[in-house]
Amino acid sequence: MKSMVILISGRGSNMAALLDAVGEAAFPARVAAVLCNRPHAPGLEIAAARGIPARVVDHTRYPERAAFDAALAEAIDAWTPDLVALAGFMRILGDDFVARYAGRLINIHPSLLPAFPGLRTHQRALDAGVRIHGCTAHFVTPALDHGPIIAQAAVPVLDGDDADSLAARVLIQEHRLYPLVVRWFAEGRLRVVDGRVALDAAQEAAASLISPQASGRR
Ligand code: GAR
Repeated sequence: MKSMVILISGRGSNMAALLDAVGEAAFPARVAAVLCNRPHAPGLEIAAARGIPARVVDHTRYPERAAFDAALAEAIDAWTPDLVALAGFMRILGDDFVARYAGRLINIHPSLLPAFPGLRTHQRALDAGVRIHGCTAHFVTPALDHGPIIAQAAVPVLDGDDADSLAARVLIQEHRLYPLVVRWFAEGRLRVVDGRVALDAAQEAAASLISPQASGRR
């Protein structure tokens, strides 16, 4: 049984999806703790309501990023996790922090990377006129939103979409994808070869998640 710490900044719906998954019988990982950089994040209450230790490391108390990163690492290491999962964690982490957790730090990002790294991904996808959008689970490396891609899920961009409707469609896929990827990690099935994640055939099939809404209406 692997243990993980989840880092959040806000709503915590991906965290909740992970908590749902680890609550299933025979899931090979458990959530040791949830850490959050914002004291009033709604996700903290969700974690507490589910009996998961939830701690705040408030970034505003650390004028230097390195000091915040060090405090965050100390809070994480108290749980000696096998995996650190960023789930809507909205702080950029420094190179030393990322190196400390190399190979066991993953993120879910709301775009089909390498398209649309950074913020406001859904509006930027609409502005670019893309027909397919989605989300990406990836290992974290020092370059923002550029680590080895583990799996992606795609959704169609529909006529009349705004950033909110598109975000909601993508979020459904995030909640499917992230638990799947955490399961693979916990099962020891994620290998990085030459900077890319090697998946077996069964993983390849499962990783190609396309929203059911992709068929029909346009
Ligand atoms: C999610 O869409 C996640 O992919 C995104 O923030 C949202 C958090 O929602 N993460 C990033 O943009 C990271 N760069 P949640 O708190 O409900 O999981």
